[in-house]
Amino acid sequence: MKAFAVQTAFGLDNLALVDRPDPTPGPGQVVVRVRAAALNYRDLLIAKGQYGRGPQLPRVLGSDGAGEVVAVGGGVTRWKPGDRVVGCFFQNWAGGPITEAATKGALGGDRDGVLAELVVLEEGGAVAGPPGLSFEEAATLPCAALTAWHALTAAGCGPGTVVLLQGTGGVSVFALQFAAALGARVLITSGHDEKLARALGMGAAAGVNYRLTPDWDKWARQQTGGVGVDVVVEVGGAGTLERSAKAVRYGGYIALIGVLAGPGTFNPLHVLMKALTVQGIFVGSREMFEEMNRLIADRGLRPVIDRVFPFDQTVDALRYLESGSHFGKVVVRVG
Ligand SMILES: NC(=O)c1ccc[n+]([C@@H]2O[C@H](COP(=O)([O-])OP(=O)(O)OC[C@H]3O[C@@H](n4cnc5c(N)ncnc54)[C@H](OP(=O)(O)O)[C@@H]3O)[C@@H](O)[C@H]2O)c1
Repeated sequence: MKAFAVQTAFGLDNLALVDRPDPTPGPGQVVVRVRAAALNYRDLLIAKGQYGRGPQLPRVLGSDGAGEVVAVGGGVTRWKPGDRVVGCFFQNWAGGPITEAATKGALGGDRDGVLAELVVLEEGGAVAGPPGLSFEEAATLPCAALTAWHALTAAGCGPGTVVLLQGTGGVSVFALQFAAALGARVLITSGHDEKLARALGMGAAAGVNYRLTPDWDKWARQQTGGVGVDVVVEVGGAGTLERSAKAVRYGGYIALIGVLAGPGTFNPLHVLMKALTVQGIFVGSREMFEEMNRLIADRGLRPVIDRVFPFDQTVDALRYLESGSHFGKVVVRVG
């Protein structure tokens, strides 16, 4: 089988299409023929060697894939050949609170991922996916969508909640769709006016260009009568956290998710004096994934796919993601 792997050194230039032996399932495992894989900012960080301690090399990239089961190992009861499945980001987090053990076994990090024609999954590390979605659409769900869903539900988002989203990448566009479905009022930032217009068309109440209005925290407070937003979905990280803490109301909630905005300084007194909850969100469990899929199915939501690349152009797809030109998700059609 063919796979995209970081071979002996990090860097997008070292990401190569390699031949690997076809995998066989061990006990409790399934082999899935990957039909589509969706890219995440994490894949860029991993390829470049900027994701924590980084994986052991060589490593097949990719956490998000959808396809069909082609072989099952001993003792497997959840799946049979021919079943359509979507892999879980964390292969060993079925449900309950996060633990260290639950976060081991992440696809495309701790173990080989889905940018391959075939991938081995734990039988409990896959879900059926919402009915009616294409492989390309279903492939977008395991990381970006689940992280957005986890953040909004952990924040108690519901009718009337005011949610501030940053940018229009994978996590934020899913957060826009989910927040709108939950009845929240969405404020959104972007570095591009045309992307803001698109977000407004999808149900955002108001948007601001963070390049033209660097003090978007003031804008967010103005939008809420000076009070501040209830929830920030913080994908910028250190570089935006200070403004997020100013944009959020007293007693508000910041879901700490990403690192897009680079380094920055942050005054922890905001947390204390405004009694903020700053909650780290790390993707989510299979149980959360299944709950999210029920909402997607009930509301007929469709993931927003910016562009689909052929498998042999995966490196171009990653460079496109790196450019930040996209709105929503970038997908690779594998087979
Ligand atoms: N904690 C977790 O479990 C988890 C899960 C998924 C993702 N993440 C992290 O969350 C972040 C977002 O991931 P993603 O997959 O959604 O990324 P992505 O699709 O690559 O998002 C890129 C977009 O982010 C926006 N952006 C970039 N810099 C920004 C800034 N300074 N302020 C506001 N927006 C900015 C831009 O949107 P505009 O063009 O509209 O400006 C850009 O197009 C990444 O850091 C990723 O590593 C964490």
